[in-house]
Amino acid sequence: MIDIESAYHLFDEFVSKYKNLGQKIDLKYYHTKRVAKECYNIAKSLNLDEEDIRICELIGILHDIGRFEQIKRYNTFLDLKSIDHAQLGIDILKENDFISKFVKDKKTQQLIFKAIYNHNKFAIEKNLSSRENLFCKIIRDADKIDIFRLFVIEDNVNLSKSSLSDNVYKVLLNRQLLDDNILKTNLDFYLRHFAMLYDLNFEYSKNIVKKEKIPDKIIDVSINYNPHEKNKLLQIKEKYYKGE
Ligand SMILES: [Fe+2]
Repeated sequence: MIDIESAYHLFDEFVSKYKNLGQKIDLKYYHTKRVAKECYNIAKSLNLDEEDIRICELIGILHDIGRFEQIKRYNTFLDLKSIDHAQLGIDILKENDFISKFVKDKKTQQLIFKAIYNHNKFAIEKNLSSRENLFCKIIRDADKIDIFRLFVIEDNVNLSKSSLSDNVYKVLLNRQLLDDNILKTNLDFYLRHFAMLYDLNFEYSKNIVKKEKIPDKIIDVSINYNPHEKNKLLQIKEKYYKGE
């Protein structure tokens, strides 16, 4: 059995080396803990066996391990301006021989690396085994749940004159994933978070989002939207709740 307590302990020890870098480190530290908990919850909801539940929780603990070094080297969380933090995390885990402290079996080690690698990609890579695919989906949902919970509308965002691009509108109505390449306006960028709702895989996650009214938090009626766009936004939101 994976010793989860000592995995948390090792994670704490690892992060303590970065503590002097300030608030951004704390953000990712607590994010990681919450995501690990949600990995556990999702795995439980799927009735996975005890060992698989622990593998999921371990993936949660390790998924953002690259974030700390990313901050140290580049002082940003923007992968595009720095480095793919998932790949960096895998490199760090390999250098420190971190995973073999908990998992001896090579296939499971590979499974953990695959899940970490895929947690931040636009879509999960093809040609994975169904088991690999399942663990990728779990960490992706757990990560998103926390991103949704943390979502706050930034004070400086002004959407009162911004329009929604036709393409983006169509993609959202069709409940598809939003590729960053088609984003043009401020409103398009803002709705990236909404599009992430369509990338949830499990009933557990979808229920949380509905219970916590995440769509209402993102498409918040009190925001001063461009009046020409408001109906479209409400329509998108309504469709989400209806599951159409
Ligand atoms: Fe991440």
